[in-house]
Amino acid sequence: MTAGHAFAEGIIRWQAQFGRHDLPWQGTHDPYRIWLSEVMLQQTQVRTVIPYYLRFLDRFPDVAALAAAPLDRVMELWSGLGYYSRARNLHRCAQSVVREHEGHFPDSAAALAELPGIGPSTAAAIAAFAFGERSAILDGNVKRLLCRHFGVTGWPGERPVEQRLWAIARRELPERDIERYTQGLMDLGAQTCVRSRPRCDGCPVAASCVARIEARQSLLPKARPPRATPVREAGWLVILNDDAVLLERRPPAGIWGGLLSFPEVEPGERERAAEAAAARFGVAPVRVSALAPVYHAFTHFRLIAYPMLIEVGRGGALAGESQARWVARATAGEQALPQPVRGLLEQLSQPRGPDPAPRKRRNPTDRG
Ligand code: ADE
Repeated sequence: MTAGHAFAEGIIRWQAQFGRHDLPWQGTHDPYRIWLSEVMLQQTQVRTVIPYYLRFLDRFPDVAALAAAPLDRVMELWSGLGYYSRARNLHRCAQSVVREHEGHFPDSAAALAELPGIGPSTAAAIAAFAFGERSAILDGNVKRLLCRHFGVTGWPGERPVEQRLWAIARRELPERDIERYTQGLMDLGAQTCVRSRPRCDGCPVAASCVARIEARQSLLPKARPPRATPVREAGWLVILNDDAVLLERRPPAGIWGGLLSFPEVEPGERERAAEAAAARFGVAPVRVSALAPVYHAFTHFRLIAYPMLIEVGRGGALAGESQARWVARATAGEQALPQPVRGLLEQLSQPRGPDPAPRKRRNPTDRG
């Protein structure tokens, strides 16, 4: 064996001595049994899968039996395993094998990957275990193992990082013993090169592992970067007459629950703010203008409010069930108001002159 295969050789020897050999889907080359186990193991741990796997085989001993069963029966039997699209795809896949492949699973990873619910890694595992095909797997555990061993930086959810991992997985494939190697990668990933506190003492390839040599096991693979804070937008109806502003009590649940605030419209509706104000509050707009957007940070999102200033004459009959009321502009600041609403009202109460320079102000972050 050449030095180029030291990684695979280490894993193959380790698997023979320390790997798992008695799982119910081992010791067979029946692609139906192997496929069933690999689909169940996609998002579920071995010990959870075992009883389901045995029940499925008992009820559906071959692909024809599964294909002929009503979907409801399959779903019932799957119930509790989670990720139910797997069960629907399992059934569709069985029917496709029966109808389009004369009841025989195709015998290459490339052809298997065309079937419903079989991604490239599952296809490779089935091809390796059932047909001895020299084909690379790359599930979550194997990504972690390869990131650590070969010092791959970058989040594996990113396309270029994933491509790099596929290239490594293919490069490291041994010339023989593909079945044992594939099982060894799975066993090592599940039992030794675990996410937290990997058991490097028991790892056959620790001597050449970049993460171990550089003590970066906890930093590899790199975690998913935090998502950008989502933005929520709203249109605000800032309805004013000479003395008062129309404010609305917010529902008790949700942001600013129970506080008085400007009535809101969908952001896209602000162009029709005057019509919305007339319809909802019986006011007669005399002038409408857009004010500068208001930005406010909550813990889990940012709000951009687009205030529409709607100047109205006196009056405006409020509908009976409306939570809106006229509040004297002079004393509105005494009410329980969200901070950005208070800020905007203060701004509006100042004498109107030439446009002031925008004020720089740090908002405290609301919990939301
Ligand atoms: N996870 C995915 N495939 C597996 C297999 N064949 N054995 C153990 N764990 C697995």
